[in-house]
Amino acid sequence: MDYLKIKSTPSLSGTIKISGAKNASLPLIAMTILAKNNVIIKNLPHVADIRTLLKLLSNLGAVCEFTDDSVNVDTSTLTETKATYDIVKTMRASILVLGPILARFGHCEVSLPGGCAIGQRPIDLHLKALEQMGAKIDINAGYVQATAPDGLKGCNIIFDKITVTGTANIVMAAALAHGTTVITNAAREPEVVQLCEVLNASGVKIEGIGSAILTVHGTSGELINIDEFSVIPDRIEAGTYLCAAAITKTELTLTDAEPKHLGSVLAKLEEMGCTFTLTHDTITLHPTQNLKPVKIVTQEYPAFPTDMQAQFLALATQADGTSIIEERLFENRFMHVSELQRMGANITLNGHTATVSGKCKLSGTDVMATDLRASSALVLAGLVAEGETNVHRIYHLDRGYDSLEKKLQNVGANIERLKEK
Ligand code: EPZ
Repeated sequence: MDYLKIKSTPSLSGTIKISGAKNASLPLIAMTILAKNNVIIKNLPHVADIRTLLKLLSNLGAVCEFTDDSVNVDTSTLTETKATYDIVKTMRASILVLGPILARFGHCEVSLPGGCAIGQRPIDLHLKALEQMGAKIDINAGYVQATAPDGLKGCNIIFDKITVTGTANIVMAAALAHGTTVITNAAREPEVVQLCEVLNASGVKIEGIGSAILTVHGTSGELINIDEFSVIPDRIEAGTYLCAAAITKTELTLTDAEPKHLGSVLAKLEEMGCTFTLTHDTITLHPTQNLKPVKIVTQEYPAFPTDMQAQFLALATQADGTSIIEERLFENRFMHVSELQRMGANITLNGHTATVSGKCKLSGTDVMATDLRASSALVLAGLVAEGETNVHRIYHLDRGYDSLEKKLQNVGANIERLKEK
């Protein structure tokens, strides 16, 4: 196993190229199950979760051919319809194959994903919606067994809670359904928007893209032709590097970014004293020497993203004053707090709210990553902690960040990847 050794880095400089979005890539890869042609997806990030989902598709019989940051997926050879526990347990987003496989083949078995470090992560809303579309859903021996021998039927679905992968799953199921599906309380994340845009361009007429009410006109089982496309930039990766710039009080430029997807994140960094120069695909952060405290509540897009909560908690330790960060989406997404406290952060937890009394003097030590975004928060803290910080169990980090230590080294960070002894 690897770990990251980080030494205090007075400042960074230069530019970082943002990779394609992991959370856009995953539903877009699952979407290839709906295609009659080979689908070329460009700008895929080199991260473990993408490799895992492509491996799952290969296990089902699809052929996936890679070039540098693109993949050519041929699902015409797909024969299996069972996503087994060994893969699903490593990545719960595997549930994204349920909708498309069921829509295409009329039956599908997917291992229940189980919870994960940050929470229970149920899929009840996915299953309830598929049942409304006419599927028969059984849960047997840890597997979801779904059948719809006559195909899925369009209907009116109202999600009790906004669910990102739930919305993606049902949009893909509705794409091949008989008739029209109206999804109310749909997720509006940019990753869901791109899925809808690609499907819409491929002949699945979708209205309300980007809004909370999506109307999907199904093809009645007719597979679709999907032209090659490029994955949108990863807004969470971009937000993470903006926090790296802010915490080291560095002017940094991100290229191949999408400022439009980061409104709530840029607004919070401005509240903390940073300013920005933006173009259509670059973001330059101008740091403040005195970070101001901040109040954050995580909510669904376009509000402040839960996937940036851990990074801002690390940043808030360097602000002069008391910051309050409330996590509203996941029940256990503060595991980075105890590791930051071990570095000297003055944080108190009360239920789903963290109170940070900054400015905290952080000291480097051995810390353990617990989940993807917690890992990046510990890296950010290591950049400004006195001495050396070793972040262990970075297989969590490798699930969602493409070459993080190389990108930070290229802008001057004192960080290296080493092998555990
Ligand atoms: C997606 O997870 C992202 N993952 C997560 O990013 C992100 O944190 C999350 O959306 C929220 O933005 C991918 O896109 C692959 P949800 P998802 O369904 O779809 C509850 C990262 O760091 N819920 O929107 O699984 C659920 O418990 C990852 O990149 C139900 O109750 O999240 C949660 O409280 C972490 N029943 C809330 O809804 C359901 O059937 C939002 O979950 C589904 C969800």
